[in-house]
Amino acid sequence: TLTQAEKAAVVTIWAKVATQADAIGAESLERLFSSYPQTKTYFPHFDLSQGSVQLRGHGSKVMNAIGEAVKHVDDIRAALAKLSELHAYILRVDPVNFKLLSHCILCSVAARYPSDFTPEVHAAWDKFLSSISSVLTEKYR
Ligand code: HEM
Repeated sequence: TLTQAEKAAVVTIWAKVATQADAIGAESLERLFSSYPQTKTYFPHFDLSQGSVQLRGHGSKVMNAIGEAVKHVDDIRAALAKLSELHAYILRVDPVNFKLLSHCILCSVAARYPSDFTPEVHAAWDKFLSSISSVLTEKYR
């Protein structure tokens, strides 16, 4: 779980990220698919070219879910329960991929807000994304 200071750092960086959430979501997916092309196998039904309507729509959904987790940072598990079932039982996304997407989200945020992305913010945001990933992958076992 996140400390009070880490939660505060997450809320602060999220206030900025939220204003550009769609663009950051789309960029994170572009980074995911170009750096880790094996992740494209989960999206055979999508047009994954840069800036496609589906890529932007999906990026927006992912960032909305992250926004929900920010709002419910003390109970991410309940906030993302439905998504957890979806990823585990229906989509069957291999858990390794969550680390890859988290990394790409981290890079997109860092690239956009370099001066806000202090080592403390980096660490807090990384920990927060990894809590989300744990919740989304915990139904597998
Ligand atoms: C769908 C969030 C990680 C693959 C979704 C949806 C959301 C979401 C909100 C839409 C659910 C709906 O329409 O009801 C997240 C979050 C993640 C994450 C917050 C981690 C931070 C991943 C990863 C993969 C993945 C790592 C695979 C590489 C998919 C697929 C769909 C989906 C294939 C269905 C797309 C469609 O057909 O519309 N995810 N996801 N997700 N996610 Fe994730």
